[in-house]
Amino acid sequence: MSINSPAPVLAAEATVPVRTATKRTILMCKPQFFTVVYRINPWMDPAVPTDTSLAVAQWQTLYDTYVGLGYDVQLIEPIDGLPDMVYAANGGFVIDNQAYGAKFTHVQRQPEGPAYMRWFGANGFDVRVPVETNEGEGDFLLVGDVILAGTGFRSDSNSHAELSVIAGRPVITLRLINPSFYHLDTAVAVLDDSNIAYLPSAFDAESLAILQERYPDAIIVTEEDASILGLNSYSDGYNVVIAARAKDFERQLRARGYNPIGVDLSELLLGGGGVKCCTLELRR
Ligand code: ARG
Repeated sequence: MSINSPAPVLAAEATVPVRTATKRTILMCKPQFFTVVYRINPWMDPAVPTDTSLAVAQWQTLYDTYVGLGYDVQLIEPIDGLPDMVYAANGGFVIDNQAYGAKFTHVQRQPEGPAYMRWFGANGFDVRVPVETNEGEGDFLLVGDVILAGTGFRSDSNSHAELSVIAGRPVITLRLINPSFYHLDTAVAVLDDSNIAYLPSAFDAESLAILQERYPDAIIVTEEDASILGLNSYSDGYNVVIAARAKDFERQLRARGYNPIGVDLSELLLGGGGVKCCTLELRR
């Protein structure tokens, strides 16, 4: 082929799909009382100092990014003594104006469940008080018409059945096996109604087979990107807010027509959370 032939470039460009952003409504919680004083995941070490004002500044950048993207960002008041409340994704799962409340595994976070349910009730959502242990959108991810649901470390698989009835949608159980990826949103990123990214080694063989079968074109992230919680990202179908350090994930997103936007939440990583953990989607 001649050196100035444009054909291969055009062919490559033609395969990049056009993505469309959808306006989002989300709930966030300022990390005003963020610190690490207990250890409920391998990322947390109470001996390592945290800087609450830096956490607030980094979180503010995420907030500003969402506002800049045109999202409707709602806020819940942080509560002193609940340092993990910043991880709003765990506050529930909201769909069709119904808010399925959280029931936390660890005693340290249990008061967050009622706190988030009070907010949902006060803001016009139909609150569904959970019977089963579950940590909200940390373990439940809507992909099109189905809900992917994690278990193994936090949410009980009985909560998957409970949510399926409430949401009137199929819930697909996926078993997590690596304690560093203890919530589903640390091992799977939802990009749009039919596309995901994930870390294969985070799942047992049966769950991995389900993911491979349902999402043959999924982005497979590197262990390196996953190790800074790079998958813990939030997409509106075009813009994907990710950890700034997840460089290979950024490259793969761009190659597929998405618009990755990097933010640095290094301080909140000390609690074992990233972008998605700080973001709860509100679906009216
Ligand atoms: N320290 C929190 C915990 O262990 C972090 C939660 C992260 N949230 C998430 N959606 N992955 O529960």
